[in-house]
Amino acid sequence: MHVERLRLTDFRNYPRLDLPLTPGLIVFQGRNAQGKSNLLEAVSLLATTRSFRTSTDRETVRWGAAGHFARVDGTIARRRDVLHVEVVVMDLAASGATATTPAATTTPSAPVAALPLAPPGALRKRVKVNGTPRRAMDLIGQMTVVVFTPRDLDLVAGEPSQRRRFLDLTLCQVRPAYCRTLSQYQKVLTQRSALLRRIREGEESPHALPYWDEQLARLAAPIMIGRAAFLAQAEIAAARVYTALARDELADLVEAASGSAGDFTGDFADDSARDEPTSNAPESNAPESNVRTFDAPEPGEPRLRLEYRPSYKGPLTVDEHVLAAALVEQLKDLRRREIAQGANVLGPHRDDLAFLLDLPTGPIDLATYGSRGQQRSVALALKLAELEYIEAETGDQPILLLDDVLSELDAQRRTDLLAAVRDLEQVMLTTADTASLPAADLARAQVFDVRGGRVRRAAAG
Ligand SMILES: Nc1ncnc2c1ncn2[C@@H]1O[C@H](COP(=O)(O)OP(=O)(O)O)[C@@H](O)[C@H]1O
Ligand SMILES: [Mg+2]
Repeated sequence: MHVERLRLTDFRNYPRLDLPLTPGLIVFQGRNAQGKSNLLEAVSLLATTRSFRTSTDRETVRWGAAGHFARVDGTIARRRDVLHVEVVVMDLAASGATATTPAATTTPSAPVAALPLAPPGALRKRVKVNGTPRRAMDLIGQMTVVVFTPRDLDLVAGEPSQRRRFLDLTLCQVRPAYCRTLSQYQKVLTQRSALLRRIREGEESPHALPYWDEQLARLAAPIMIGRAAFLAQAEIAAARVYTALARDELADLVEAASGSAGDFTGDFADDSARDEPTSNAPESNAPESNVRTFDAPEPGEPRLRLEYRPSYKGPLTVDEHVLAAALVEQLKDLRRREIAQGANVLGPHRDDLAFLLDLPTGPIDLATYGSRGQQRSVALALKLAELEYIEAETGDQPILLLDDVLSELDAQRRTDLLAAVRDLEQVMLTTADTASLPAADLARAQVFDVRGGRVRRAAAG
């Protein structure tokens, strides 16, 4: 799918904008703080109704906007039809319309902030699809995006919560049921941890716990099974893309691994030199490859693996009921610890995900042994795998949003990334420095200058 037209009213630093867009590569260039990322944020807001940057949506309302609301309006061409989405974010506090305190109308902040999609009624937001008011949940899978920001570059070595968020954002975009379950699960977690604390303080008897164990397990099981299934599928695409993105490094690795020195990983962990541009060839000579034609790793070649690491220890059976029953059993064993901590210690909110590289000598964990550059290649591969997964699930290709990532990558990785996304339907990229773009990609792109909340088609050449 692709955005045909983006209209903004009092969104961030845009009082008004009406921007026609074409398929293919779109480059927003301009100095810092001019509104480039705000444009990508607006596009992603149409897909998920949430900002990928803040958890308080009313921040997106332009300061001093007379109407105290921001509107994002998009016309999206899909494979079979054209979709019109409108999201209005209201700043009720500023408009003085809130007699009640914000705390009275929003659900507790921690679990909600962790949710990629807003639970219904929690935010002052209005969504219209093709002119008809809808719940935020109804937008799921209608318009999809894959967002890649500098923050995503440390997906591999960063906090586990970041990896869970990645899983949830992807799954929520394609599976409304997953998203609903996740939202209910967050509520159960809140209730259950409050109960655990009351039990710890002696204010409540533990007899109420089995009910909440059941609730937790019933919701946790489909979330875990959904994550495991997604990872199994994404692994295939991620391995293929990673092999293509990292072929030079991988060749070095295999050589090191098959050599006499056993501790090649020490060297490998500190190969900052390898993050330097690896090729002096002109960037326009980029290989004519793209995501779709990347070959899978050959047998014996290093292969990227995505390993789901749930907090639950035991076989991940595909049967929801069996898994739920096993979770209930483990919760019994954890009873004392949970009460002592006053916290939920088991469930998908404690899951993690590991990135392994299978070498002839055995698997290594890239969070520990990967160089920064390698971890970035893995993050890129994962995002492109996410895109393929969403396309396979929904039948429409998501829009790829690359926010300021070129500056974070070396020349070779920039070239490889642009080659990998060359055939995608629509890619929006922001950069302060168009010189960081391979010339061939710049030549085929639609380039816009962004300055102080104004967007102008850049002069050709
Ligand atoms: N709610 C808002 N109202 C008006 N301006 C805003 C608002 N939120 C952010 N801005 C402004 O937007 C600019 C940042 O835009 P951004 O898209 O992040 O810049 P960049 O071009 O560096 O990506 C800053 O000048 C900031 O002051
Ligand atoms: Mg920016």
